[in-house]
Amino acid sequence: MSDQPLLARCADLPSGLGLDRPLECRRHLLDGELRQWSGPMQEVRAPFFLEGPDGPEHPLLGLCPVHDAEVGEQALEAAVAAWGGGLGDWPCRPPAQRAACVADFARRMAAKKAEIVRLMQLEICKAGPECEQEFHRTIENIRDTLAAHEALLRASSVLIETGGMLAQARRSPIGVALCMGPFNFPLNETLATLIPALLMGNTAVVKLPRIGRLLFFPLMDCLRDAFPRGVVNVLCGGTEAVAPVMTSGKVDVLAFIGTSRAAEAMRSLHPRPNRLRCVFGLEAKNAAIVLADADLDLAVRQVLRGAFGFNGQRCTALKLVFAAKEIAPEFTRRLAEAADGLTIGLPWAPGAAITPLPEPGKAAFLDALLRDALAKGARVSTRRSGPLDATTFAPTVLSGVTPDMRVFREEQFGPLCPVAAFSDEAEVLRALARSDYGQQASLFGSDLAALGRLTDRLANLVSRVNIGCKAQRGPDTLPFTARKDSAVGTLSVTEALNAFSIETLAAAGAGSEGARQMREIRARRLSVYLSED
Ligand code: G3H
Repeated sequence: MSDQPLLARCADLPSGLGLDRPLECRRHLLDGELRQWSGPMQEVRAPFFLEGPDGPEHPLLGLCPVHDAEVGEQALEAAVAAWGGGLGDWPCRPPAQRAACVADFARRMAAKKAEIVRLMQLEICKAGPECEQEFHRTIENIRDTLAAHEALLRASSVLIETGGMLAQARRSPIGVALCMGPFNFPLNETLATLIPALLMGNTAVVKLPRIGRLLFFPLMDCLRDAFPRGVVNVLCGGTEAVAPVMTSGKVDVLAFIGTSRAAEAMRSLHPRPNRLRCVFGLEAKNAAIVLADADLDLAVRQVLRGAFGFNGQRCTALKLVFAAKEIAPEFTRRLAEAADGLTIGLPWAPGAAITPLPEPGKAAFLDALLRDALAKGARVSTRRSGPLDATTFAPTVLSGVTPDMRVFREEQFGPLCPVAAFSDEAEVLRALARSDYGQQASLFGSDLAALGRLTDRLANLVSRVNIGCKAQRGPDTLPFTARKDSAVGTLSVTEALNAFSIETLAAAGAGSEGARQMREIRARRLSVYLSED
């Protein structure tokens, strides 16, 4: 590890970063009010180093509450009361009114863009343009979700006559949702579950990510002003606050994006698992398969972005490359050369592609994977490799990777790209079939028959086969799901609405008095459910 950390010098800091004024986040939304927390606070420090009077230090960005079990219970009770066993004001409101609240929230949030982007950049060290992109993608996602909701309402406004029955089918809310997003897309992936949950009429407790929390505090008043009392409640802290929420048995939907270990720990706290619906986005080990006849320029470009985008901290990142043995040396050489060209820098530096890693101990974890692989015969192909300081890891390409190495199986979630050479596609498919994960794969080649055959096989092993391009979640209008330990449920603008609702029916015998009543209720606009709207 280098003695010289990637250092921000006070004199070079861009203006407007606001490092001189740490944010003290004492107020959080609970039961329609911004409650002042007077309990313990936790320091939030930047992952990068700043030159300080006593040497390099992680600058203090803010202070966040460490909520306890009591706040956890209060947040839950507020959501339970707003749900009112399904009879609360929010679940009973006409869906168009709920949509208006969501649209109002999006407008309020848009006005906070600069502050949210600033805090995201500082706390998770995502490069400035990517933070902006996450912000815009989130606004767009809300807009698309509103459009999908409207389409759903339109589609469910009709009467269906079938098998001697007349029916109207709609999707109805489930209850109280607990929404927990990850650190790598803290804004986007927290709201990607919260917004559809609310839109469908559920009430929610949001537990802020362990890292990437500060950006939510400017949103507290937006949430308070856009939604009625108790509909959204925010928790900040660890297990102590959130465990009682789950053990109460009063959570009906658990929406969690993070690791399968943490998801399982949360799910297992619920005393009545049959009553709990889970929507999970979890870790993955997405493979790129580069066939002997692949266009190597394209494969290198896509694998570079897939493996090293946001330091490889994407669940959809490419985390293992299988290269046909004929082209493996040339592919690895070119990939390593491209990785050596990536700019390592602080998130505000122009062109910074590799930035400090916010997870504590991450560079050391990646180093352990690297050393394990080297000890078992892998070789470093990049000029730079390994940890540069306690939080920065050089973009590293490893060649000669084999199944006995940890990096072949474990999710690295960092800028370390292992390449394994293969001579027979069956061995690649067997390795993927044995993997604990099953999110996506990327396929590069020219022979259409081979691409077709592999797509057929891969479709049974993962949930998305990318042909000639990197793995990714977007666009959010496409279904995003996975197999095995990589996901439960599907998220996309349409599927998320289904994930947070259940199908319900009102029905009567066709031609019966009940059917006549249904039609008249609709015609005279006497019901929100039985309605033509
Ligand atoms: O961490 C996983 C994110 O969903 C990645 O999203 O593939 O669109 O960059 P993306």
